[in-house]
Amino acid sequence: IYIFIIMKVLAIESSCDDTSIAIVDNFKKIKYIQTINHQKFHKDFGGVVPEIAARQHLDIMDMVLKNLPLKQLKSVDYIAATYGPGLIGGLIVGSSVAKGLAIAFNKPLLPINHLQAHLLSPRLVANVSFPYLCLLVSGGNTAIVLIESAKRFKILGSTIDDSAGECFDKVAKVMGLGYPGGPALEKKAIGGDPHSFKLPSPLTKTKNCNFSFSGLKTAAIRIIQTHNKEKNFEKNFASSFQESISSILKIKIKNALSVLKEKNIIIKDFSICGGVAANKKINYDLKKYINSQNINFSQVPLSLCTDNAAMIGWNALELSKTIKFKKNNYNIRPTPNILINE
Ligand code: KG4
Repeated sequence: IYIFIIMKVLAIESSCDDTSIAIVDNFKKIKYIQTINHQKFHKDFGGVVPEIAARQHLDIMDMVLKNLPLKQLKSVDYIAATYGPGLIGGLIVGSSVAKGLAIAFNKPLLPINHLQAHLLSPRLVANVSFPYLCLLVSGGNTAIVLIESAKRFKILGSTIDDSAGECFDKVAKVMGLGYPGGPALEKKAIGGDPHSFKLPSPLTKTKNCNFSFSGLKTAAIRIIQTHNKEKNFEKNFASSFQESISSILKIKIKNALSVLKEKNIIIKDFSICGGVAANKKINYDLKKYINSQNINFSQVPLSLCTDNAAMIGWNALELSKTIKFKKNNYNIRPTPNILINE
């Protein structure tokens, strides 16, 4: 006889410019979610302003909590919150609210590493078993990670300078496309010729899984400054730039698969997460390559690729399977600079 016990967690995410609250259960049901993005308050400054983000989290957190029915709040088994990495102001807001709720409702409190939550999110939406490979491509990170369990993350390679998202944002800024640059640049690339401009592919000749995007960024900016008056420049350049990033990511994933093969590690699933995963061209190219290797490309929906509390809740539930959480332990230390595998 199987006895199914439903466990629920209330989770809070506030590490950057999204305030999000969710209730998730161990049967992968997102019972409740509210995510409010602050982008419009940062737009004029060309990037996220930490002080504005912190104040927005305070205001919005209050509002989203008031919207959450008390009955639902009382029904959860755990409270979880992102404790890092991220901007300190937002992390303090989220952690303090979670701590307050845990004390008030007498629930165990689970601090969650935001990056690990991203990497575990494929398991929230599909039947993905350990170990699996994930490409994390966001504004702050670019890394290829082998996820061995809910607690073990092996970094096969990461960027030695800029992240892919940063490269998109900086190049888009020079093109005058505003912030965030990634989605705007993707739009510009529609109908462009991906082979019209030749861009460098730093570090792709070395057979490792590390990335470098700063040289590509500098070369791209130089091209913009010298060719921007040409006919159809924007769409041809944006298309070529996107093609370059996509092919770099593909080469490095290829290297990662070789590393796994050498170590006799068999994976059935691959996933891509973080903001850049929203890019259709990158998704298409990587999916095609991964499927050609007889590996399943597990797609995380857009709403769960960007910052959200559902993945934080899911991470807490994954941990709850292996760790017994103590009540009356309300330690949560907002930490801006934790690593993927901390
Ligand atoms: O994971 P994320 O939402 O948060 C941070 O890490 O801050 O990633 C944001 C990054 C930004 O650099 C943004 O330009 C990029 O993801 N991004 C994209 C696209 N949508 C978001 N880059 C390329 N194409 C897109 N469609």
